[in-house]
This record gives sequence, structure tokens and C-alpha cells, in this order.
Amino acid sequence: MSFCRMDELELANKRVLIREDFNVPLDAGRETSDARLRAGIPTIELALGRGAAVILLSHLGRPIEGQYSAEFSLAPVAEQLAKLLDRPVRLQKDWLDGVQVQPGEVVLCENARFNPGEKSNDEGLARTIAALCDIFVMDAFGTAHRAQASTEGVIRFAPTACAGPLLSRELYMLETALAEPKRPVLAIVGGSKVSTKLSVLQALLSKVDQLIVGGGIANTFIAACGHPVGKSLYEPDLLHAAQRLIRSAHKLGSEIPLPKDVLVASGFSKDAEATVRSIDAVQDDEMILDIGPLTAVAYAEMIQGVGTVIWNGPLGVFEFENFAAGTRAIADAIDMSSAFSIAGGGDTLAAIDQFDVADGVSYISTGGGAFLEYVEGKTLPAVAALESRFKD
Ligand code: 3PG
Ligand code: MG
Repeated sequence: MSFCRMDELELANKRVLIREDFNVPLDAGRETSDARLRAGIPTIELALGRGAAVILLSHLGRPIEGQYSAEFSLAPVAEQLAKLLDRPVRLQKDWLDGVQVQPGEVVLCENARFNPGEKSNDEGLARTIAALCDIFVMDAFGTAHRAQASTEGVIRFAPTACAGPLLSRELYMLETALAEPKRPVLAIVGGSKVSTKLSVLQALLSKVDQLIVGGGIANTFIAACGHPVGKSLYEPDLLHAAQRLIRSAHKLGSEIPLPKDVLVASGFSKDAEATVRSIDAVQDDEMILDIGPLTAVAYAEMIQGVGTVIWNGPLGVFEFENFAAGTRAIADAIDMSSAFSIAGGGDTLAAIDQFDVADGVSYISTGGGAFLEYVEGKTLPAVAALESRFKD
């Protein structure tokens, strides 16, 4: 991959705008994992060390565009960044008209997704963002799959655009790890919705030898196989798509296993009691919040037998202690396995932190969707934009 890199540029006294992925999981205004913040620190320190005036830009969550909302404010991120950098980080609420920043200072712009035109990659907005800086640094690997004004658009219009060290390292590591993976390859894809991961699941089937689905995605597969799911989160519109994926897996000689048992609760709450149900015995008023103990053992055994594990997305609601066991079993199995393991995604990073298994994972990516799209073989739009700027 050929693009300009931050470490090749003269940064002293330049306004350096770094696009970060500080989209961290938040719980009541506190980040539950600051892994993505920590991953961004070396780039920020490098820019400061070279005498740059540093402006940071990120999105957080999926707020309604054009509307400020305290719920999606980067204020907790600014606070935590200041601690990690051991220097003040000023959060600027309105920044499209310009940012005053001196060499050695750090300003964090409020959530990029509060601006109308961000998601549609509006050219006017991209040009406005580009005008804030002398050098734009794309370091948000986790958001490189989004062609948005602050990721792809700005690269086309910034005076200079380059890749940051985190983005470069992520691309290098994934390329190296996935070019000729040790087989069999097992992918574990959890998360809430099949709809957002449909094409990824389809593409993964032809690349991996086994695919485990978890979370809300698994519920859709469970329902697609005719089992009751009660009040569980699932997508009725995607039952056919799930059935097609199951058939594709069979044709390719692999399978998408269903859990044998699950943990259910009567409601979605931290204090809800967990009851083990066999997969065909979920009641109408119950919701599935985790895999059951038999399934956890079966999945852990599958992990022990493979050469490479790709993990994105929790298996259950691991934030609730009563429903953490399934995701913990996967994390522990990966930790103990000698397989080459790659994990990515905001929630996955939070789970790795919570279960303290970071040392047992071969490579941890800050990307979730971006990581999966890379694995799928797709071109990441922000990377493509950097490459095409390099050719000009
Ligand atoms: C992520 O967490 O996947 C990235 O930050 C992108 O966020 P998005 O899925 O809301 O675009
Ligand atoms: Mg995502």
C-alpha cells in the first residue's frame, strides 16, 4: 500500500489535524474501555514531540446529525485523554469556523457526527474540515471503512493528507497475518444485528473453515432454524438471509453451529436472573442474553482445534455479570489456545479488557466494522483516498 505517512513529514509549527476513532463504549457517560484512546496516544505524542499544534477529531456513537446531544458528547473522552497524555485537552464545541491552537497544545473537536453532511460525505463540509489544518492525519483505522466527510472527504481536500502510525500499523499487521493464515480458520462474529454484518458473514464463509455467530445475530439464526426466541432481540426480516447463509455454509463444507443451550432472562437488566434453557425451550416472555454452559464448552473446544481465530463481537451481554460467562469462555479459550488470534471491535476490546486476556491475543485491532471489511477483502474508502492522493 502506498501512501504518505505522518512520520515522513515536517510537523513543527504546523496545525496537524488527526482523525481518531475515539468511538468508545460508554456506560452512563463513562467509557467502559479506553483501549481505543490508549491506541491513539503514541501518534498524538509523536506529533506533539515534533512541535505540532494538535487538533483531534472523532465521532462517538450515532447521534442525530445537526443536533448537539450531551449523551454523545466527547467530554468524557477529553477528560480521559488528558489523564493519559498528562496534559490539558480542550474540548471545542463549535469548531467549523476554526480552531485556535498553539504548538504543543491539544484541542479535541466535539463529535464530528453532530455536523450535517458528515455521514453523506458532503463536499462543502469536507472542505471546511480540511481548511482547519496544514496536515491531515488519518489515524482512525476503526472508521476507515466509512466514506464520510471527516474520514474520506477531508483527505481529498486537505493541503497535505497522510496516514498516521496507528493506521499504517493496523494495515501492515492485518496484511501480514491474513495473507496466508494457519488453517483451519475460525471466525467468531457477535453483535446485535445480522443486517449490519450480512455481507461480512457471506464473505467470511468462503474465507474461513468455521463460523460461530453470537449475540443478536445468533438469535436471528436460532429463529431461522425454527426455534422459539421469545422476546429476544432478533431480526424477523432476515430469517431468509440467515437460512441462505446456513445453506451456503453447508455447500462450502463448513457449518454455522447453533448454540445447544442459552441463558435467558425475563428482562434486559443488570440484575436479571439467568436461567439455562435448551435451545428449543425458550419461553414467550424470555429473552436470550448469553450462550449456555454446554455451548460455551463446545465453542471453547472448537477454538482449541484451529490454527487461526478471528474474533469480532461478544457472544452475550457480557457487561452484565450474570450474562458474561459465554463471552468470558471464548476470551479464556483464545487466551489459552496456541492458535494465532486476531480480535477487533469496540465491544470486543472492552471484553478483552474486562476478562484481562490481552496478553493471550496475538493481535488486537482497534477496528470493528473496518476490521471485518478488511478481512472480507474490501477496499477501505479512507485508505483508497490516501492512496489516490499519493498518486497525484
Ligand atoms: C466502529 O466502532 O465500528 C467505528 O467507530 C465506526 O462506527 P460506526 O459503525 O457507527 O460507523
Ligand atoms: Mg460499528
